[in-house]
Amino acid sequence: MKFFCSSLAILALLPSAFAAFGVTTSGSNMVVDSGAGLVTTSGLKIHTTSEETELAHPPVNTANGDITSMLFNGKQLQDSSKFTQLSSGLGSASVTSSVANNIAKITISTSTITHYYIVQSGVNTLYIGTFASAEPTVGELRFIARLSKASLPKGVVASEINGGTAIEGTDVFLLNGQTRSKFYSSIPFIRDQVHGVTGSGVGVFMVIPGVSYETSSGGPFFRDIDNQGSAQQELYFYMNSGHEAAELPFRTGFFGPYAMAVTTGAAPSANLNTTFMDSLGLQGYVPASGRGTVTGTYSGTLAGTAVTIGFKNSAAQYWIAGSGGSFSRTLIKPGTYTVILYQGELEAGTGSVTVAAGKTTTVTLVSSLSVPSVIWRIGTVDGSPVGFLNADKIETMHPSDTRMSSWGPITFTVGTSAASSFPMAQFKAVNNPTTIKWTATSAQIGARTLRIRTTEAFAGGRPQITVNSFTSAAPAAPPSIDSRGVTRGTWRGLNQVYDFVIPTGTLTASTNTIQINTISGSAGDGFLSPNFVYDSVELF
Ligand SMILES: *[C@@H]1O[C@H](CO)[C@@H](O)[C@H](O)[C@H]1NC(C)=O
Repeated sequence: MKFFCSSLAILALLPSAFAAFGVTTSGSNMVVDSGAGLVTTSGLKIHTTSEETELAHPPVNTANGDITSMLFNGKQLQDSSKFTQLSSGLGSASVTSSVANNIAKITISTSTITHYYIVQSGVNTLYIGTFASAEPTVGELRFIARLSKASLPKGVVASEINGGTAIEGTDVFLLNGQTRSKFYSSIPFIRDQVHGVTGSGVGVFMVIPGVSYETSSGGPFFRDIDNQGSAQQELYFYMNSGHEAAELPFRTGFFGPYAMAVTTGAAPSANLNTTFMDSLGLQGYVPASGRGTVTGTYSGTLAGTAVTIGFKNSAAQYWIAGSGGSFSRTLIKPGTYTVILYQGELEAGTGSVTVAAGKTTTVTLVSSLSVPSVIWRIGTVDGSPVGFLNADKIETMHPSDTRMSSWGPITFTVGTSAASSFPMAQFKAVNNPTTIKWTATSAQIGARTLRIRTTEAFAGGRPQITVNSFTSAAPAAPPSIDSRGVTRGTWRGLNQVYDFVIPTGTLTASTNTIQINTISGSAGDGFLSPNFVYDSVELF
């Protein structure tokens, strides 16, 4: 069970054996009574009928919508100095409430935001929806619960920064010899349905159904902050941000529904049943009856590599895993969408589909990726550096972390070196160049192409090659994203492909030396020097 109290207004809902279900306003606090607990002057206590559990909701501050108290089993879950809110707080807002059919709804409004907290009688989950007609001026849209560190000490270890020393920006820290950052709590949207923090006998979890990312940006593999352990235990749902945003402008409309669930410690189900919200008149909310389905088939992708089908237009985005050559994606809002066939995280083909409410539309997708018959390949053509040196660590630590393997520069020998020795990223000032040694047969020489695929670039970093005595032209700079990249724990940028033609007479039927250099017109030091992330290297 859970409930909130706030300084403005609070919701509390619970079984109704002990008190009346409803919402009351007292001074600047709005208190929601679940109906199963006791309401106290300082907030809300909720008793379930099955156990003597008290969940005090933070009151909702009626001047700005902040949640200022949350009491559960006698524990205050809310931090006492920094509150739970949208963005960095709404400043001032109109806060109203309504109760009907055992559902309490708190509506927090500004000129561009309508934010809802909804509680069902007897259920310890705060259902949330956020309508934004414009991007907040801070340039990101997030829900942040600033919880009590004492009550909820366990977050994501890689995101625990309290007492650390900043080593990059104001968001990457060194703590007890380990690099830490809120960015290292990020999980790709496609897998981030439940994340939370826990303490003794209590857990607080964000629940975000896959479809509830429809108004966010960046596609299925975009990752954003879930947690930071500072003086507070911060729990997030980032709806959009400039944290390596590869898809702009941000969408507007209804974000969610999502939820904050309070449990006795176990993670809640990812299957959040939001059907009861269909009739609540939420601004911008489209019920299941107003949505359609797309089914289809796909072919031509690399065997053994996961397939995802993505859908996007200016209003919404969706995705679904493909399996055995087919897929079915339900709950898509009406509209015309670009459909993307992903081989791993790499766009392999596209299509178009128009979705209508209550209808099923079909689409056929075929990979249009060039698949040459290669002489050799390093890595997998999947839009990710998975399998390369330090790729298993980069999502949860800074590249300078002493737990990382040495970055080199690396010399890789075709035929004997393992892919795990090939660097996942190449930094101009750290591990430049990467050298590939290859002993060719006479049948393998002549004019060839070296293809380098990358997943991300920073400060204009891209490859240029030297093969024996031949040096390639310098490719143009890749599209730039206004953000740090791999140093904040992600490889997910804009996939690029660089084809270098090696002229006849360059390769020899003995040992060849191929150097890959990071080049850029920009400068930078250390791991913030121009860099790129490898997907794969192929010779054909
Ligand atoms: C979801 O909730 C509705 C009532 O709001 C109920 O009718 C329906 O059976 C529930 N669905 C599932 C899968 O539990």
